[in-house]
Amino acid sequence: MNDRTVMIAGNWKMNLNLDESANLVKAIAEEIQGLDGVDVLVAPPFTSLPAAKQAIGDARILLAAQNMYWEPDGAYTGEISGQMLVEAGCSHVILGHSERRSLFGESSEMVDLKVKAAMLMGLIPIICIGETLEAREAGRTFEVVKEQLEGSLKNFIDEHSMPPSTILAYEPVWAIGTGKTATPEQAQEVHHFIRQWIEERFDKDTADLVRILYGGSVKPDNAKDLMSRQDIDGALVGGASLKADLFVPIIKYQES
Ligand code: 13P
Repeated sequence: MNDRTVMIAGNWKMNLNLDESANLVKAIAEEIQGLDGVDVLVAPPFTSLPAAKQAIGDARILLAAQNMYWEPDGAYTGEISGQMLVEAGCSHVILGHSERRSLFGESSEMVDLKVKAAMLMGLIPIICIGETLEAREAGRTFEVVKEQLEGSLKNFIDEHSMPPSTILAYEPVWAIGTGKTATPEQAQEVHHFIRQWIEERFDKDTADLVRILYGGSVKPDNAKDLMSRQDIDGALVGGASLKADLFVPIIKYQES
């Protein structure tokens, strides 16, 4: 047992219009009334953030964006600042998702700049890392994960301190949207490696407090098994977060 509160987070990616976003939030809110002990978070597309915030009302649902830029303002066509996300009602921001890294050329150096800017705005970063199939098959999983941690968290390393509220998400690229989930053993092995890395780089208290979510084809039927592992503190859910009848059972994984 540990003191970390499980977080179930939904990354909606580029899906759902305004009405669909508000309706999904309301459906989740209704189903989780009175539910304790699990943090629930949704990450809609930028344009749906204010509508989602309004739909959340006083329900216990946290709001995140899926990305941000590191500069506070200026001539950066198409970008969104941390301040804008705070104004839209966000408390969290997903950074360095593998789709950002592979499709939009985001490097760990860029993720590090974003993490720093998010912290300055009081946004809690959910920092994603994970190896490709090629890297796993070449036996390079730990090497790649370590490289991404060292690069994406450089500002924390330089400061010799990592805020314990920081959230990490281990998302093996080969398990995202493929229906192939890492087995709970495979996921636990990497989560344990990440926690050890935090302890070595920072200290045991931080390592004990930082939450590490697992992402990659999490569904109602595999959530409980994944969540039962010592170092898996929640899930970052893609496809199954778009429908209340799939997402809610993941939130209520303990009842299954
Ligand atoms: P899927 O749950 O669709 O595999 O997506 C995982 C993910 O990328 C969450 O950020």
